[in-house]
Amino acid sequence: MLLRPALPTDVDLLTDLVVEAVNWTGEQRVTVADVRTDDHLARYVEGWGRPGDVGVVAVGDAGEPLGAAWVRLLTADRAGWGFVAEDVPELSLGVLAPGRGLGAGSALLDACLDAVRAQGSRAVSLSVEDGNDLARGMYERRGFVVVGREGGSDVLLLDLATSTTPAGRQKV
Ligand SMILES: CC(C)(COP(=O)(O)OP(=O)(O)OC[C@H]1O[C@@H](n2cnc3c(N)ncnc32)[C@H](O)[C@@H]1OP(=O)(O)O)[C@@H](O)C(=O)NCCC(=O)NCCS
Repeated sequence: MLLRPALPTDVDLLTDLVVEAVNWTGEQRVTVADVRTDDHLARYVEGWGRPGDVGVVAVGDAGEPLGAAWVRLLTADRAGWGFVAEDVPELSLGVLAPGRGLGAGSALLDACLDAVRAQGSRAVSLSVEDGNDLARGMYERRGFVVVGREGGSDVLLLDLATSTTPAGRQKV
């Protein structure tokens, strides 16, 4: 597996991964068409590549995309479910089903946090739904703490000034 920066041409992959993130239970709650047309879902990916967008894509041995982690700055009037502040980017994470359980998600999350740290952000936020314990555990082990509640999800925040980068990871 290789990690590389997420490019504007990755917008379709990121769209697929928003679907995966919302449908994490396995239930088909949303489709790709929903992500393209629903204002709230679309704001995570529309026009990917604008200033402040930072992401990492995992690619398999045959060049196939495995998943991605990315952050985007959102505004209070078009906030995400994990919105905390306009200067705190919100993180999204997903691995396509065939590539799960092999460490891609962890590598993506760590590499994306490194990239956000390098960009100079003070913190990263996200939303994790009740019951998504695999994802929640990943975030908590990296120092994310609950700072809010939105529907059936917690809003988590990682303070990048106090958290550290684990050693020995693959660089993007
Ligand atoms: C959550 C998700 C990104 C994890 O990616 P993955 O590649 O399958 O996971 P990994 O193999 O990298 O393992 C992730 C972590 O779970 C742990 N883990 C893996 N299998 C586990 C299991 N059966 N039980 C407990 N922990 C487990 C790993 O040790 C790892 O922990 P670490 O990062 O602290 O070291 C992926 O399952 C996914 O895309 N799910 C659907 C979308 C989603 O839920 N996105 C997050 C929305 S908030």
